[in-house]
Amino acid sequence: MASHPADARQQTWSAGTYDTHARFVSDLAGGVVEWLALKPGERILDLGCGDGVLTAELKAAGADVTGVDSSPDFVASCKAKGLDARLMDGQSLTFSHEFDAVFSNAALHWMTNAEGVVQGVSRALKPGGRFVAEFGGHGNVAAIVTAMQAVGRRRGGDLSLAHPWYFPAPDVYQALLEKNGFAVRRIALIPRPVVLKTGIEGWLMLFRKPFFQQYENQAENALAEAIELLRPALCDANGKWTADYVRLRVEAVKS
Ligand code: BEZ
Repeated sequence: MASHPADARQQTWSAGTYDTHARFVSDLAGGVVEWLALKPGERILDLGCGDGVLTAELKAAGADVTGVDSSPDFVASCKAKGLDARLMDGQSLTFSHEFDAVFSNAALHWMTNAEGVVQGVSRALKPGGRFVAEFGGHGNVAAIVTAMQAVGRRRGGDLSLAHPWYFPAPDVYQALLEKNGFAVRRIALIPRPVVLKTGIEGWLMLFRKPFFQQYENQAENALAEAIELLRPALCDANGKWTADYVRLRVEAVKS
């Protein structure tokens, strides 16, 4: 689930809004859950557990699962589902040699201190433990970022607010894992166009509000400009919007 570290460039999270505009995130997690190949009774850390929909699925499959997220709203949502969830920054995990696997879906691209994440995951795992994750890879939401940057160039302002994420290429992420004592079993970049049932405006407002808010009383105009730039690439003749997602999926073992 989309995660949510302390430094997410002013991103804030509401479990209700997330459910409306981004439920597809957990709905599309089948592939990475398959790579996890969970065995009943295993101790699993769900890193960036979001609102806990996937965490609950791992629990129902027999895992002894703990979720962490840096969003108080998401942690509350998990607890309301009866899950063990803790408020924690994924870039400085405090667990020590206690998990059979660390699992993460659609969260790590929010954690720009990727080495801090990998080192915390390594500390959290038992020897031989697995790290199985899927998140935005190189080229993820490239059209969306490019449109926002074009708007930003015309209007001035802070361009970095258009791209606060970490979207590594497979060779870059593999090198980071190996440098930190992991053996990579498999890694893949997977194009994943996603139909946005609530359109592009909902997506932009959920995930990049800080970029548009910097234009204050011009925010709505800046948003309309970005949407028009995106229309030829991401909206079909029937008005259906598709986001240009690309996933990086990885399975690595702590050696
Ligand atoms: C993603 O899941 O790839 C994503 C979600 C929100 C913002 C950027 C990327």
